[in-house]
Amino acid sequence: MRRVITYGTFDLLHYGHINLLKRAKALGDYLIVALSTDEFNSLMKGKHTYFSYEQRKQLLEAIRYVDLVIPEETWEQKRSDMHEYHVDTFAIGDDWEGKFDFLKEEGVNVVYLPRTPEISTTQIKESLHKKD
Ligand code: CTP
Repeated sequence: MRRVITYGTFDLLHYGHINLLKRAKALGDYLIVALSTDEFNSLMKGKHTYFSYEQRKQLLEAIRYVDLVIPEETWEQKRSDMHEYHVDTFAIGDDWEGKFDFLKEEGVNVVYLPRTPEISTTQIKESLHKKD
């Protein structure tokens, strides 16, 4: 079984996320999503999510492309995740182009998938804010 992993916050789940998950799953047979915890988001990524970790996890687990959701708690866990979860392919949106090439040293394929244009969690939040 070819295992794929991706990382992210996935707040206010939108069609850009679904497109990413669909294409990531198509790179193998089993898709793991390492989902940024609330603490990691606020302390390390400077993101304050609308939905909690448990809510975001529940949404992701309901998606047919997602087989397993694990917590992303540090930047450094990626190398050990590759071995712990027997990952063949690491996939992420191309806003991260080149940033995770070091994972090739762990024997993993690293794939940057083109982002879906014109949609992001930030854009949704900004657009709703303007309508208030
Ligand atoms: N993604 C994508 N296309 C989009 C938005 C996100 O392919 N239009 C991908 C990202 O590249 C990443 C994953 O979805 O691999 C999770 O991204 P995340 O940062 O959680 O979503 P964004 O909508 O980009 O959120 P934000 O605006 O807070 O950065």
